[in-house]
Amino acid sequence: MTASVQTTISEAGSHVGRQVRIGCWLTRRRSSGKIQFLQLRDGTGFIQAVLVKEETPADAWQAASELTQESSLYVTGVVREEPRSPSGYELAATGIEVIQIAQDYPITPKEHGVDFLMDHRHLWLRAPRQRAILRIRAEIVSAIQHFFDERGFTQVDPPILTPSSAEGTTNLFHTKYFDEDAYLTQSGQLYMEAAAMALGKVYSFGPTFRAEKSKTRRHLIEFWMIEPEMAFVDHEQNLRVQEQFVSFVVSRVLDRCRQELETLGRDTSALERVQAPFPRITYDEALELLKEDDMALPWGEDFGAPHETAIARRFDRPVFITHYPASFKAFYMKPDPNRPEVVLCADLIAPEGYGEIIGGSQRIDDPALLEARFAEHGLAPEAYGWYLDLRKYGTVPHSGFGLGLERTVAWICGLDHVRETIPFPRMLYRLYP
Ligand code: 4AD
Repeated sequence: MTASVQTTISEAGSHVGRQVRIGCWLTRRRSSGKIQFLQLRDGTGFIQAVLVKEETPADAWQAASELTQESSLYVTGVVREEPRSPSGYELAATGIEVIQIAQDYPITPKEHGVDFLMDHRHLWLRAPRQRAILRIRAEIVSAIQHFFDERGFTQVDPPILTPSSAEGTTNLFHTKYFDEDAYLTQSGQLYMEAAAMALGKVYSFGPTFRAEKSKTRRHLIEFWMIEPEMAFVDHEQNLRVQEQFVSFVVSRVLDRCRQELETLGRDTSALERVQAPFPRITYDEALELLKEDDMALPWGEDFGAPHETAIARRFDRPVFITHYPASFKAFYMKPDPNRPEVVLCADLIAPEGYGEIIGGSQRIDDPALLEARFAEHGLAPEAYGWYLDLRKYGTVPHSGFGLGLERTVAWICGLDHVRETIPFPRMLYRLYP
């Protein structure tokens, strides 16, 4: 017998006519008595191995017939073209080396409830759908870094343990820091502002934590955020970066993850339309649209998920809602000089009801105004002294934003819940596995 080449399923196509050896798991076995079909996966893809009884060594035939779902093995066989297979190839198997016969696998092809699947998340990750989502997530991460690295931004890592809040105190995740109180970061933004004064254009990319007591389709306790911050950039320029950025990320996924999007059954025509410029409406205009939809809200009240969905339904691409009332927005947002009761901020709402994916703003650069805001928001000035310093030693106009990775993955993958967008979600009442 000729020596076999060790390869992977994704590389099998470059070995047509040759004998290969692949480390893999069995997802399913079918047998007609004379032929066995093994559905195999190795993380890089899926392939079918075919064993014909008359042509297969007896020991390989026997070993194959004993394989259970998720058994691990090395399969040896000759790669051949098979137009009916999704990968375009199959294996004419000649040898089976069993690594382990798996015990009864809990996740079977029958329907399972969400709680059961979440309890078995460590195994559920092996499903083709979950694999597709994680592949797309990784592509989005890579596209995000590429976009900013190519445009002269420096990646900077803010701390995870913080002494104070960045985004209000209601959902702070409390912990002890020796004898002091500390909080897991809600946002790296304040630190990124310091970094922007040192490096000009910066971005952070890391986990953030919010002890959200609400159980919704869009909230995680631990989620990943990309937070660019730019010196000498105003509100208008900030929006332009955001629309270019989001269009780029979507187009990269369309270019590189066709197969994964197909596995998920994602309607890609909706994604193809995601091209800058994005429509923009003010908070006041959004209120008018809501009135038309019989969802009127008084001025000064924030939108909930149903309001965002109603607004997004009117547009075929992401829409910016700008100039929200200062009263319910973060303390650091710069007031509109023409109308100080609203701030120079924008939320970007994804189409098709996937909700807000970005929050951003121009920041207050005037030290006196920032101090007044500390007082209004009940923030202890001593905790924010360093942040105020940024406005004392060469303050400049600056802006930034935060994009929630999981909501973006949910939107691009077409998932109705964020729990599948992250390998091991931390949600209300779920810390396992
Ligand atoms: O609008 P947010 O709260 O903005 C900030 O944190 C700013 N400091 C960002 C900045 O300007 N540097 O959050 C930004 C995004 C939201 O649009 C949403 O996509 C995501 O973070 N997000 C969450 N994602 C999942 N679970 C949660 N609990 C989230 N909270 C916010």
